Amino acid sequence: MRQWWMGKNIYQIYLRSFMDGNHDGIGDIPGVIMKLPYLKSIGIEIIWISPHYDSPMDDYGYDVRDFYRVSSDYGTIDDFKQLITEAHQIGIKVIIDLVLNHTSDEHPWFQAAKDPNHPEHVKYHDYYIWHKPKTDDAGLMQPPTSWIGWFGDRTWTYHPLTDEYYLHIFSKKMPDLNWRNHEMIDDMKRMILWWVAQGVDGFRLDAANHLEKNWEFPEAYPGYEHFSSLPKHHDYLHMLSEEIFKPHDLLILGESGGANKAEALAYVGYHQGSMNMLIQFGHCWADIDPTQPQLGKWSQGVVDVVKIKKSFQTWYQILGHDGWNLIYWHNHDQPRIISHYGSDRRYHARSGKMLAIALYLMPGSCICYQGEEIGMVNVRFRKLEQFRDVEVFTEYDNMRRMGKTKRQALRLLSRRCRDNARTPMQWTHGAYAGFSPVQPWIDMSGRKHTINVQSQSHDPSSILSLYRFLLKLRRSDDNITFGTIEFIDIDHPDSFCYRTVGATCEYLVITNFRNRTISVQLDDIHKFAPVTGSLKRIPPLKNRMVLAPFAAFVYRRTRRRES
Ligand code: GLC
Ligand code: CA
Repeated sequence: MRQWWMGKNIYQIYLRSFMDGNHDGIGDIPGVIMKLPYLKSIGIEIIWISPHYDSPMDDYGYDVRDFYRVSSDYGTIDDFKQLITEAHQIGIKVIIDLVLNHTSDEHPWFQAAKDPNHPEHVKYHDYYIWHKPKTDDAGLMQPPTSWIGWFGDRTWTYHPLTDEYYLHIFSKKMPDLNWRNHEMIDDMKRMILWWVAQGVDGFRLDAANHLEKNWEFPEAYPGYEHFSSLPKHHDYLHMLSEEIFKPHDLLILGESGGANKAEALAYVGYHQGSMNMLIQFGHCWADIDPTQPQLGKWSQGVVDVVKIKKSFQTWYQILGHDGWNLIYWHNHDQPRIISHYGSDRRYHARSGKMLAIALYLMPGSCICYQGEEIGMVNVRFRKLEQFRDVEVFTEYDNMRRMGKTKRQALRLLSRRCRDNARTPMQWTHGAYAGFSPVQPWIDMSGRKHTINVQSQSHDPSSILSLYRFLLKLRRSDDNITFGTIEFIDIDHPDSFCYRTVGATCEYLVITNFRNRTISVQLDDIHKFAPVTGSLKRIPPLKNRMVLAPFAAFVYRRTRRRES
């Protein structure tokens, strides 16, 4: 059955860096309201906003201090309500980030939990996950396990007042909640319903697969299997789905890496799913250097195009019929896609368009991340003080311990860190790219003269013009959203070619993912007409096509009716 959100283009807004409405250098809700007409004009119908809650901003809002308050950095609850009203007036739905796995350590629950003298200490202590210290052979106090969290840090921090360690799988200012505590769950449900009452159309569930932990707390390193994707987290999600998400017809986008087929269907299968769309990461980081495993995502090798194609194919195969598929290039946690998989210098515009063409003709729903549509590029931070992301600082220490020099560490971090995706949106070529009249909270990524909305809007051959075209095409032609995808020569190491076959027409997508000329072999190429491309001229289809660096072309043909 067709749901309201199917076929609607999604746009992710990283609030802090989208648009500064009150001129303090920080993006905010009034800024989003100002830019709603822009979003509408490029074909967006759903926006997902990163956390807007009151927060000490250790992890820029993913550390919530008060779920019921809008951060004073971002505006007021009235601004929020106005955003919902104005978005709805022009046909844009609004979904917000929902952080269920942890709170800030400054949340009143944790304040009570950590203070034995607090009148409600006993109740709130159990909202979190605590463990007594271990003693090693030398009689020294040690954390309960050697688990390492997602920011490269120990997952346990000692708290002297309770003489216990608390668990945090992200930063130490983000203690994990205890989802086995029913009162905590009830508090969460009340909070979710409160935001539903404010008019939100859905949620993006942050860190959805981490809610359950292995309460045996076995020794392990790094130990991810003990705090991620444990079977019981599905029960929590299903409970929320049955009680809240489904009855309110909300759109639920869940963040969860590493799911297999059964889990994927438990998340987003039509029949048994607790959510509607799954943000998985199979196609991300397809350029990790296998010779440097100790560096993980911080190492950079050659882009493995086959891996990217196979990930999209696998997800389509898992979800194409039994559930809903989601496509996107990147979000606020990965480098800029054009710097990552394209060419951010010589072939900037061409590779940006190639990436757009490679992605946006695939079936399912799509998410465009802010700035992707103008080809925003990575930062080139050279000093540690320029970075803002909490993860950078723990990883910097790790790299120094590994023996990297200061310069080497900063280079690795600069290329791959999350700040890359978090620099201010570039609206004009004016001061601070029209984001704010004052110095923004984080340095700009640069190249504002060509990489900005204003100049690209007037250039029919810009990346932005192509995004506008593709997003509108997706809106107007259900053949893409509801089509089936077949990759062509999926083992070709450099090309990214596929067909999307819909009820009445078929698209043929041919792209070269490399900065050198390649050739591809095609069959069944009759009656296709050119649609768009990354180069000025779209060549006629031939069985053997020679493709210039980052060339990408789309063709279409009507399908003969089957008699
Ligand atoms: C998710 C968010 C990320 C955040 C983390 C902890 O992975 O996307 O930005 O740091 O959860 O909330
Ligand atoms: Ca502001």
